[in-house]
Amino acid sequence: MPPTGLILGVESSCDETAAAVVRNGTQVLSNVVASQVTLHATYGGVVPELASREHLRNIVPVVRAAIAQAGTAFDQLDAIAVTEGPGLAGALLVGILYSKALAFGLDKPLIAVNHLEGHIHAVLMEATHHAASIAQSAIGGSNPNPLLALVVSGGHTHLYLANLTPSGAWTYRNIGHTVDDAAGEAYDKVAKLLGLGYPGGPWIDALAPHGDPTAVRFNFAPIKTRGATTQVGPRFDFSFSGIKTAVLRYVQSHNMSAASAARRATLAETPHLKPAGAASLCDIQTLNLIASFQSAVVGNLIRQTLAAAQTFSAAAILVSGGVAANRELRARFTAEAGSRGLPVAFPSIALSTDNAAMIAAAAWPKLLTHQTAPEAMTAVPQLRLG
Ligand code: KG4
Ligand code: ZN
Repeated sequence: MPPTGLILGVESSCDETAAAVVRNGTQVLSNVVASQVTLHATYGGVVPELASREHLRNIVPVVRAAIAQAGTAFDQLDAIAVTEGPGLAGALLVGILYSKALAFGLDKPLIAVNHLEGHIHAVLMEATHHAASIAQSAIGGSNPNPLLALVVSGGHTHLYLANLTPSGAWTYRNIGHTVDDAAGEAYDKVAKLLGLGYPGGPWIDALAPHGDPTAVRFNFAPIKTRGATTQVGPRFDFSFSGIKTAVLRYVQSHNMSAASAARRATLAETPHLKPAGAASLCDIQTLNLIASFQSAVVGNLIRQTLAAAQTFSAAAILVSGGVAANRELRARFTAEAGSRGLPVAFPSIALSTDNAAMIAAAAWPKLLTHQTAPEAMTAVPQLRLG
């Protein structure tokens, strides 16, 4: 059978069962995501045991839907790509076991993809962006400067230098990460504290424009690793547990706990209420706190990333992961990087949060450079990139 360029991507690292068919690493033919968000919302976080069982329930129909929506057939695929880690062990195993069996049955190559590399490729695959086109010129070797990728999600706040080697394979170097909570985790915890819905990011995103971002001052304490270096230069680490604790103290000292509990109860009774309609549930003090929190987190993410971009003479910045869906982050990043003449690119909203199209896209250069998974491939919950 002649090559078709079609890769089936499978993603099950956390609470989304996802499958997608992507042609030549860029053209999304289907992108199916079964979210477990309502299942875990009652607990205010992902319950690993429940996630695994839900993946098992969803994996076959999700893959079938991805193949059908792409208008293709299993035997047309060039390869199957699956998330190897990082993520929840039991959740990862469902996708890996299914993909191994499928690749075995179809006699097709299996490609293991790091979830974080997937997030980076969610930006690269959408070549309509200015920064992605700079990335494409880096691919041709005409721009020797690295791309700087910020992956900011519920589990990660990581900075990577990304380079495409002449062989066609991508290489990554981690130059910073959070030393405690991820930015998305801080969003989720602050939202939970204020009695808002789960996951918290979209709620805070929607409510922040209703408040005054200068009302509450949050300071970021110096990080212990400041001054530490990597093989390629200084580290640019993040820390978000301090601001989470500062919000908690503010809520306690301003007697806002009862109002938060009331809001939680109201939302439990009105499960169909969307973040955009929640402003009326919040007093101005809460809205100001939300706006100030978001402004501080976004400011910190941008400051650290721009400092790293300057140090490493980055050609462009790629921002990905669930928090990359945030509107204030997008607007301020674009303005502040733009004023320095630095292109910054984000994935479309659908590809910001977890999906399998990004896994298939990241697998494409691996397929071209024959980086297939060994038969003994297994889940690596703490898998690192670079
Ligand atoms: O990438 P993702 O779907 O899953 C992980 O790999 O973690 O990211 C989920 C995270 C959650 O913490 C969620 O609150 C956050 O992304 N998030 C947002 C927004 N949408 C999702 N954070 C801020 N603003 C948003 N609009
Ligand atoms: Zn993710």
